Amino acid sequence: MEEKEISQAVIGRLPRYFRYLGELKDEGVERISSQELSELMKVTASQIRQDFNNFGGFGQQGYGYNVEHLYKEIGRILGLDVIHNFIIIGAGNLGQALGNYLNFERRGFIFRGMFDINPQLVGRDVRGVKVMPMEEMERFVRENDIDIAVLTIPKTSAVEVAERLAANGIRAIWNFAHVDLNVPEGIQVESVHLSDSLMKLSYNISRYKKEKENS
Ligand code: NAI
Repeated sequence: MEEKEISQAVIGRLPRYFRYLGELKDEGVERISSQELSELMKVTASQIRQDFNNFGGFGQQGYGYNVEHLYKEIGRILGLDVIHNFIIIGAGNLGQALGNYLNFERRGFIFRGMFDINPQLVGRDVRGVKVMPMEEMERFVRENDIDIAVLTIPKTSAVEVAERLAANGIRAIWNFAHVDLNVPEGIQVESVHLSDSLMKLSYNISRYKKEKENS
């Protein structure tokens, strides 16, 4: 299927569709209408149809979508039908927590290596992967077909490490350091700030409180 340029807002909604469809598939549901999916996901049916129309509508026929087909197609669009090797840089609290998370493998993200500057962490085993010294990082990226680097290091060193990764062929950076990274074109950066999500929660708590006080 020919794919046109899709807005980032639509792309941002695909993982949620993928998650819900995966659950429906596991429950043995074969078909679902946009109305039923809308009720389940609490988004309008017209939003769902609009989103899916970007990809040719996924062949909704008669009563609804074929769940398995839709799940596979969205997975393919998200690039989840291929294996992505990743490394983690920074074997501290966050790096080890991510390394220990098993579900990435289920989605085709394979944990290959972990690096840290702290010699006391070098050699530590995180789910079968030994922490390596930073001096080995460049060669490892080049020789092991590493697509993604996860940065769980302080912001003071993230820019320099990102430049080293870019120079050695990394394709994407999942950035947890609190700093904006300027990498050459063609390298994808996705920054995650958990506190942004917490602040959104804080906003909603205060708004709810105010509404209660005024009612
Ligand atoms: P941590 O101090 O437990 O771990 C950081 C690790 O990075 C240490 O093991 C340290 O030796 C290593 N490191 C420092 N400089 C390095 C370099 N140049 N190369 C390789 N390794 C290096 O800290 P934690 O809690 O794991 O957090 C890591 C970073 O992630 C911090 O900067 C923190 O601010 C950030 N963070 C971001 C979150 C987010 O939502 N974006 C959430 C939590 C933490």
